[in-house]
Amino acid sequence: MKQVKIHLIAAARPNFMKIGPLYHALRDEPWAEPFIVHTGQHYDVNMSEAFFKDLRLPEPDIHLGIGSGTHAEQTGKVMIAYEKVLVGTRPDVVIVVGDVNSTLACALAATKICYNEAARPPNFFARLTVRQASQPSSHYTHRPLLAHLEAGLRSFDRTMPEEINRIVTDALSNILWTPSPDADENLLKEGIPASRIERVGNIMMDSLEMMRNEIEKQNMLEQYSLHRGEYALVTLHRPSNVDDPICLKQICGSLRRISENIKIVFPVHPRTRKNLQSFGLDELLESNGRIIVTEPMSYVPFMNLVFNARFVLTDSGGLQEETTYLGIPCLTLRPNTERPITIEQGTNRLTTPEKLLDDAMGILGGSIAPYKVPEMWDGRTSTRVVNSIKAFLGKGLL
Ligand code: UD1
Repeated sequence: MKQVKIHLIAAARPNFMKIGPLYHALRDEPWAEPFIVHTGQHYDVNMSEAFFKDLRLPEPDIHLGIGSGTHAEQTGKVMIAYEKVLVGTRPDVVIVVGDVNSTLACALAATKICYNEAARPPNFFARLTVRQASQPSSHYTHRPLLAHLEAGLRSFDRTMPEEINRIVTDALSNILWTPSPDADENLLKEGIPASRIERVGNIMMDSLEMMRNEIEKQNMLEQYSLHRGEYALVTLHRPSNVDDPICLKQICGSLRRISENIKIVFPVHPRTRKNLQSFGLDELLESNGRIIVTEPMSYVPFMNLVFNARFVLTDSGGLQEETTYLGIPCLTLRPNTERPITIEQGTNRLTTPEKLLDDAMGILGGSIAPYKVPEMWDGRTSTRVVNSIKAFLGKGLL
C-alpha cells in the first residue's frame, strides 16, 4: 500500500533534471506516492514542457502557474498558492531541490504548515508530531518532513539571490542531502546538526546516466554542421552578466573574437534574449556567421552538444558539474562558485569578462589538465535518497 505521500517541487529549468530520476526511483517503491508540483516559475515550452518529455516525466500532478515577477512577488505568489495545496493534499514529505525562488518559497510554506488531527497520526510521523498544550488531549498537530536535495552549497556571495535561497532553505530543512564534502562542512559551520546531514552525491549525474543512450543517439552536430571537439558551447543568464549593457557588450565582443578561432553554439535563455535585443547586441553576435544563436534547448539535444564540445563557457551551476563529470573544460563566467569541488577536482575554471578571451585561447592552445570525478557522482544518488527517506521515516514502512 502506498503510505507516504511525497511532493517533489519542480519549478525552473535546472530543477527538472533533479526531480526526474528521483520521481522514477520513488514511483518504483511500494510505500511511496510521489507527486510532481510545478510552480510554473519557468513556463516557456522549451524551458519547461520539453524537459518533462525528455526526462520521461508525466504531466505535473499540480501546476501553480506562477510565472515571472520580482523576487518578492514570485516567492510570495508561490507561498500563497503552495500553502493551499499543502492544506488540500497533506503530503507527508516535501522535497525541494536546488536554489531557485520556488525552492525557498515551498520550503517556507511547508515548514509553517500544521495539520491538525483528532487521532494520533501513524507511527512514522512520531518524530515530527507535537501535541500542543492548548489543545484537547485527543488532538495532535504534525508537519510534513522537509528535505532539501543539493543542500550545503555556498558561494559566500549574498548578492546572489540563489545564495539567500540556499541558506534559508537549509536552515529550515529536516533532512539535508548534500552532493560533496564541502557542503557537509558548510552546514556544520552553520550549526546544522550532523544527524540531519547525509551525503548522497550529485543527482544531476543520475539524469545524465538515465538518458545517456538517448543523448548519444542525437545528431545535433549534423543539424548545425559541426564537428566533434570543434566548437564551444555557451550559456549565460545570470543577472550579473546579462542585465548590465556594458558588461553584456564586453562579453559579446569577446565571444565574437573567440568565434574567429572556434565556432560557437549559444542557446539563449529568455532573460538574455530580451537584453540582447533591447541593448541592440544581437547583430554583433550573429553577423559573422560563426556564432550559432538558438532558442533554449531541451535536455537531451543540449547534452548531446555538451558531450561533443571542445569547451563550455557558462554561468550556470549545473553545467559546471556536468562538464566535470564528462571531463570537458569549462569556463565559468562568475567571480565565485558554490561548487568549488568542480575547480579543485574537476575541469572548471572561473573567468571574468576581461579575461574571457585569454582564458578561452588558453584552452584552445592547451591540453586537458588531469581531473577527477568527485566521489558519489555516479548515477546512484536517487537510490541513496530513497534509502535515506526510508531510514528517516522508520521501519514502520517496510
Ligand atoms: C532562474 C533561477 C536561477 C536558475 C535559472 C535557470 C532564481 C532566483 N533564479 O533564473 O537560479 O539558474 O532560473 O534558468 O530562482 N522567462 C521566460 N520564460 C520562462 C522563464 C523565464 O521568458 O520560461 C523570463 C522571465 O520573464 C524573466 C526572466 O526570464 O524576465 C527570468 O526568469 P526567472 O525565473 O525570474 O529567473 P532566471 O533568470 O531564469
